[in-house]
Amino acid sequence: MSGAPPPAAPVPGDPARAERVRAMFDALAPRYDLANRVLSLGLDQAWRRRAVRALGDLRGAVVVDLCAGTLDLTRMALDAGAARVEAVDFAEAMLRTGRARLAAGAPVELHVADARALPLPDGRADALCCGFGLRNVPELERVLDECARVLRPGGRVAVLDFFRPETALSRFLQATYNRLVLPVGGGLITGFSEAYRYLAGSIDAFVSRGEFEALLAARGFAVSGRDMLPPVASLVVGVRR
Ligand SMILES: C[S@@+](CC[C@H](N)C(=O)[O-])C[C@H]1O[C@@H](n2cnc3c(N)ncnc32)[C@H](O)[C@@H]1O
Repeated sequence: MSGAPPPAAPVPGDPARAERVRAMFDALAPRYDLANRVLSLGLDQAWRRRAVRALGDLRGAVVVDLCAGTLDLTRMALDAGAARVEAVDFAEAMLRTGRARLAAGAPVELHVADARALPLPDGRADALCCGFGLRNVPELERVLDECARVLRPGGRVAVLDFFRPETALSRFLQATYNRLVLPVGGGLITGFSEAYRYLAGSIDAFVSRGEFEALLAARGFAVSGRDMLPPVASLVVGVRR
């Protein structure tokens, strides 16, 4: 990053958290993809590909990319044959960075909007994906209500995230990775180590995979979940009944 100093990193539980999260991602945008690729040794893209595959046959589908960031999942959904992607994120600089990497005329609608109030009609989306976004939203249950609202019956949701670890192995891996690798590596690449400390802390404040699956099931989804390799990130898939 260059120019202005990075904004204050958000604190989980802070009422002003949403605005701070937005400012943080706007500031991270130019270096976000590079940091992801380096810090995950490229694994993050393999995890995203699995999430898109879990959405089933996307040919002709309308897909929502929630907390879309720089549009990695959007591009993968288009490659899988989606007819249109509705990409939603409240950090405009993230969407702008992603748009620059889309092919001209790609059928993508960008929405600078909060995940708690999606600017999308009821029951029209065939699929919805969210990569590493829900950990940051202040009212998770309200966002899940919105996901259920915009999906048609039979529509699928795939959520990829770093859930609060439940097993000794994932606790150990997350602790090593989040407390050492992320702040140091993320700080070096982006000049904003506070942000990477926040991202690590947000995992401790997030729900476990099991708790998340229960929240989706309570909204009428048939749910399945699995850990990625290595078991730091997990994928939860739901089919709206
Ligand atoms: C870690 S990034 C993930 C971006 C992308 N999905 C990916 O796979 O790389 C999280 C994104 O969620 C967005 N976000 C966080 N809270 C949000 C909210 N309440 N409404 C909309 N977007 C939000 C941030 O702006 C950021 O772009």
